[in-house]
Amino acid sequence: MALFAEDKNLAMELVRAAEAAVMASGRWFGLGNKNEVDRAAVEAMRFALHGVDMKGVIVIGEGEKDEAPMLFNGEEVGTGAGSEVDIAVDPIDGTRLMAQGQDGALSVIAAAPRNSMFSPQDLFYLNKIVTGPEAASYIDIQAPVEFNVRIVAKAKGKAIHETTVVMLDRPRNESILRKVRAMGARIRLIGDGDVYGALMTCLTGHETADLLLGIGGSPEAVITACAVKCLDGNMQCTPYFRNDQDEQKANARGITRETVLTLNDLVKSDNVFFAAAGGSDGDLLKGVHYHGEHIETNSLCMRGKTGTIRYISAVHSRKKLAEMGENIEYDPTVNEAN
Ligand code: FBP
Repeated sequence: MALFAEDKNLAMELVRAAEAAVMASGRWFGLGNKNEVDRAAVEAMRFALHGVDMKGVIVIGEGEKDEAPMLFNGEEVGTGAGSEVDIAVDPIDGTRLMAQGQDGALSVIAAAPRNSMFSPQDLFYLNKIVTGPEAASYIDIQAPVEFNVRIVAKAKGKAIHETTVVMLDRPRNESILRKVRAMGARIRLIGDGDVYGALMTCLTGHETADLLLGIGGSPEAVITACAVKCLDGNMQCTPYFRNDQDEQKANARGITRETVLTLNDLVKSDNVFFAAAGGSDGDLLKGVHYHGEHIETNSLCMRGKTGTIRYISAVHSRKKLAEMGENIEYDPTVNEAN
């Protein structure tokens, strides 16, 4: 039977797992404890994913890099009914932002038919370029930074000084930053969360940047690729090795300094699904907010096949979810006091 023969929009179910993650981890907003943010998000997401009709396997669990709590690669999720899918998750992309009470943290999940996602394994970082549909066919990660900024500006009918590059604020991105600054392009430096950064370049109606550049996490790259496919943008990556050991391990599986991972290398299928929920407030999605008995979440879900983008604003009953056994910490005395 063909995959997705039932033509279900899996993103509409996955979005509930992203909502669950932010509802649980939002309790740790600003408390300075990254591990608890991650733990709460992972546990709630795992619980919610098990209720989704799919034969899911986690291929991107995230977390190895910083030894954070995680959904494990190879872990089976879903009810076992439905399509065979690869699942990539980052229960909170921007854990540090959430722990420090800062804007821009998202919970993200992507799905694609089984064996269609790139497996980063020991490759922790990738150099990334992402842009939206207008410049999608022009970018080239092997070309100089200046070429890419110029070509994107041209494709979008902008002057260089009107073109915005978003990148992670990291010492390893310093040389790209210097080149972009020298050209006079606008720069949005983000502390964390380059899935969000990528969405800024291609999410229809929310484009606050034109181009994402720089080195970020490999798991996030695969999740981003699923979102970019839904939005008809483009993404390319090259490996970034932290040391000789990284390089040797990658070489052993045929990945060298010259390797370019195209959008189709990152995720082979176009039949992809992506869901995100706001953890902390951001200009794309409002974060999770607690209103006594109710919890407010704001999410989006998208599907590659149709290109539909849905925004979901939800109000959840803490009491009812707790009664159903959902992973919601419910203390009636606290609610009464509120
Ligand atoms: P997590 O919050 O999931 O740990 O990731 C945050 C993040 O900023 C990603 O968006 C990015 O790809 C990666 O970390 C960059 O890694 P590092 O913080 O090690 O530079």
